[in-house]
Amino acid sequence: MQVPINEDFMSKTTARAFSNIALVKYWGKRDEEKMLPQNSSVSVTLSDMYATTTVEFSAGLTKHELMLNGESYFSGSSEYSKVESVLKRIKKTASTGLNAKVVSKNNFPTSAGFASSAAGLAALAVAASKAIDLSLSKKELSILARYGSGSASRSVLGGFVKWNRGEKDDGSDSYATEVVSDTYWPEFRILAVSVSNLRKKIKSSDAMRRTVATSPYYTKWPKEAERDVQKIENAIKKRDIKSVGEIAERSAFSMHGLMMTAKPPILYFLPKTIELINVIAQLREKESVNAYVTIDAGPQVKILCLKKDIDYIKEKIAKINDIQKIFESRPGTGPQFLSDHLF
Ligand code: PMV
Repeated sequence: MQVPINEDFMSKTTARAFSNIALVKYWGKRDEEKMLPQNSSVSVTLSDMYATTTVEFSAGLTKHELMLNGESYFSGSSEYSKVESVLKRIKKTASTGLNAKVVSKNNFPTSAGFASSAAGLAALAVAASKAIDLSLSKKELSILARYGSGSASRSVLGGFVKWNRGEKDDGSDSYATEVVSDTYWPEFRILAVSVSNLRKKIKSSDAMRRTVATSPYYTKWPKEAERDVQKIENAIKKRDIKSVGEIAERSAFSMHGLMMTAKPPILYFLPKTIELINVIAQLREKESVNAYVTIDAGPQVKILCLKKDIDYIKEKIAKINDIQKIFESRPGTGPQFLSDHLF
């Protein structure tokens, strides 16, 4: 579609998108440039962790400008290149040479150590396409966000979400769809626990590449993950916390186990990560509380449970020393447009 744009064109849009946590993990790309995954994945969108992003296309800009949580990022940084790759596709689709100013803020401290790329890049895809007057479907938005970060493809939807691996080389069938909406299982809770505020040493994209290239066990992963995706979809539809928790926990541990078999091995767990894993396992084994953990490419722990157990679980975690922060979420909605702008 050709967008009629004159020299004075200026259009600002602000969108909010919610972070997501994978229950069945995506680990490994089959195409680095198009961000095509080796396996399908399933996530839940987080109601209380989000990014708010304002995008302004303007004729006065000679290149894209990016500010994240009050800090400027420039060409050469991985943050800038993720944003650039989404904007590049938007510019191509809209047939425009305009550049954009992007200002994005998370509602949780960056020092909490939670990857915010999923929320930020989904918000960027939604805000930028509207700012340049493109009317995109959820499928098109998911593909667009995927170019910034794989997990962002799932944050263009609310509730429980599946990102289908797809088969095609052009990536046109690799996008996210809703499994069930945000209101389907309102008792489901996610506690995101920050155990360290140190920056992680290895980026997820580097860790993925190394695992695929060097772990002798990686070949088993994609098939096993596809089976888990099918099983967890059924368990989510039945609102079966035990099955969802068990599948999610095993998917996370398998992913970390694979990383530990890469050359050289990758280990994201810290002592507090293990302590928390054990506290949750004990709650389950000794007190029959339905609580499970999942862990992304970092040391932070997310606990999956039900509303009725949340206060008790929080009380147990509060007894662990040096826990930095806890964020509680329900299944969240898809992205929203806001009338206020960040600049
Ligand atoms: O696309 P990225 O760089 O956000 O990678 C996400 C990797 C995991 O968070 C570990 C798994 C997942 O499916 O979100």
